[in-house]
Amino acid sequence: MVLDQQAPPSGMPPELPASATVISGDVTDRQRVLDALSLKPLSAVIHLAGLVTMGCERNPDLAMRVNLGGTANLLEAARQVGVSTFVFASTISVYGPNVQQPMVEWITPAEPLTWYGQSKIMAEQLGLYYQRRWGLDFRAARLAAIVGPSRIAGSGSATMYTSLILENAALGKAYAIDVDPRAGTPVLYARDAARALLALATAPAAPRRIYHFSTGLVTVDELMRIARSRVPDAQLSFNTDPQLGPVSVISRDWDLSIEAAQQDLGWRPAFTVESMADDLMAIAREQHR
Ligand SMILES: NC(=O)c1ccc[n+]([C@@H]2O[C@H](COP(=O)([O-])OP(=O)(O)OC[C@H]3O[C@@H](n4cnc5c(N)ncnc54)[C@H](O)[C@@H]3O)[C@@H](O)[C@H]2O)c1
Repeated sequence: MVLDQQAPPSGMPPELPASATVISGDVTDRQRVLDALSLKPLSAVIHLAGLVTMGCERNPDLAMRVNLGGTANLLEAARQVGVSTFVFASTISVYGPNVQQPMVEWITPAEPLTWYGQSKIMAEQLGLYYQRRWGLDFRAARLAAIVGPSRIAGSGSATMYTSLILENAALGKAYAIDVDPRAGTPVLYARDAARALLALATAPAAPRRIYHFSTGLVTVDELMRIARSRVPDAQLSFNTDPQLGPVSVISRDWDLSIEAAQQDLGWRPAFTVESMADDLMAIAREQHR
């Protein structure tokens, strides 16, 4: 069962299975959320709905209502109908600049400097409160920047460049990179992300509750090198966005520990940065044939 305020884009694989129930609804509508979760017994909620970085900066009020308020509605509905496991899509944007390396979930302080990171850390804290107070089995995935084909990021992602350098090169399209030439970030390939959320939803136990997931660290330089090694005449240039530029360099050296996910959930990335690039570029070419 899927709840979203907009219909899934059609003609964009992978399609949802025909058996999936798709419900149109806004997570800020508490009754709608409760009605949806009451429709049939669910083994887990995987909560992905939300605004990402630039959408939160443009409208902090909406960010708090959707990212924190929507999470509150889902947690409360899960408690009321008795869903045992709640998986929350959090983010490495909960960390601020100048953090010590390597970064470990329960050691590195979460002191964000963006509305996005702040709304997500507050939502995580609320989930942990539901766990302490009512025993809801809350589990949060601090996902690295997602890399995948056909990314839309309706609300405005700061890390689209990690996908678009590779995708545009594969399609022979010119691309003006919108971040600082020194930018970098840990990334998570979409296929690794799907396996991560599934691992969190189905693991018999997730004792540390908050887990990092990453395929690896990339820089703009590295992505451009990989793209050009596959497509020597890739048309890549820079048109740095003044708002994105400074944000994009914060995470360029982050050494994100994924040991907890390996030890507790048996999860490790199935891809390297190189094999991720090859897979994404092959999918992009296939989709646009
Ligand atoms: N993309 C990334 O790099 C990244 C990294 C870490 C964590 N995340 C988290 O993963 C989740 C999904 O991100 P994404 O990149 O797919 O973003 P996206 O913008 O592509 O998708 C967000 C989805 O949430 C839905 N949504 C937004 N507001 C809603 C509301 N009020 N009610 C119901 N549905 C609503 C949108 O319709 C959309 O389908 C988010 O929670 C995001 O914070 C994303």
